[in-house]
Amino acid sequence: MNTDYIVRPMNRKDVTQVASIDREAFPTMWPPMNFYRELENQLASYLVLVEKTAVIEQSDIENEEDGISGKVKRWLTPHGKDQGKIIAFAGFWIMAGEAHIIGVAVKSEYRRQGLGTLILQELIDQAKQRQADCVTLEVRMSNYEAQRLYASLGFVEMGVRRAYYTDNREDAVIMTLKPVASGNKALGKASDL
Ligand SMILES: CC(C)(COP(=O)(O)OP(=O)(O)OC[C@H]1O[C@@H](n2cnc3c(N)ncnc32)[C@H](O)[C@@H]1OP(=O)(O)O)[C@@H](O)C(=O)NCCC(=O)NCCS
Repeated sequence: MNTDYIVRPMNRKDVTQVASIDREAFPTMWPPMNFYRELENQLASYLVLVEKTAVIEQSDIENEEDGISGKVKRWLTPHGKDQGKIIAFAGFWIMAGEAHIIGVAVKSEYRRQGLGTLILQELIDQAKQRQADCVTLEVRMSNYEAQRLYASLGFVEMGVRRAYYTDNREDAVIMTLKPVASGNKALGKASDL
């Protein structure tokens, strides 16, 4: 038995777990994010990072839901077949060639293990696949941890939005990852970053 992680698109079955990570990470944001609505938004892309425990094993068990029988490879997890425990989520909206990161959060007890980096790298790849010229976001002026994470991925500070956050009127730092043409770090394949 070991622990591994995969990143995959978010689906409706993930919403309860994702909403709980969102509440833990952003307790003062009101109203809370409506992830069901986000999943129906054609402009949005959301990913989840999932912990897979007790990795693939060969099994003779008949799969009742999809009718696959005989030798099948499947992940066995304590959270139900193929669902897995969600550790992090991240998402963006794409508009006019710009991928705007809406949210990224890692469960608190799993932070500082490179998982925020991992899911953001995948998100950047997704943005590239959706023809984004750049990836941009707002981050609280006081959120030094997240600013360091974004900087480590090549994002640069582009300016400040005054009193951007409605809960405490805190300023936001705008950070952007630009394409090669601009002379900044490439919006290349995330694994190149
Ligand atoms: C910001 C967040 C997503 C980072 O996730 P993470 O999995 O801990 O990030 P990583 O382990 O990949 O860290 C990558 C780098 O970011 C920086 N960083 C992350 N957490 C940090 C911390 N607590 N203090 C200082 N630097 C930090 C470091 O440079 C780190 O590299 P290092 O560990 O080699 O020094 C996580 O702290 C979180 O969910 N916070 C609450 C939600 C949030 O603020 N989201 C961002 C909104 S814009």
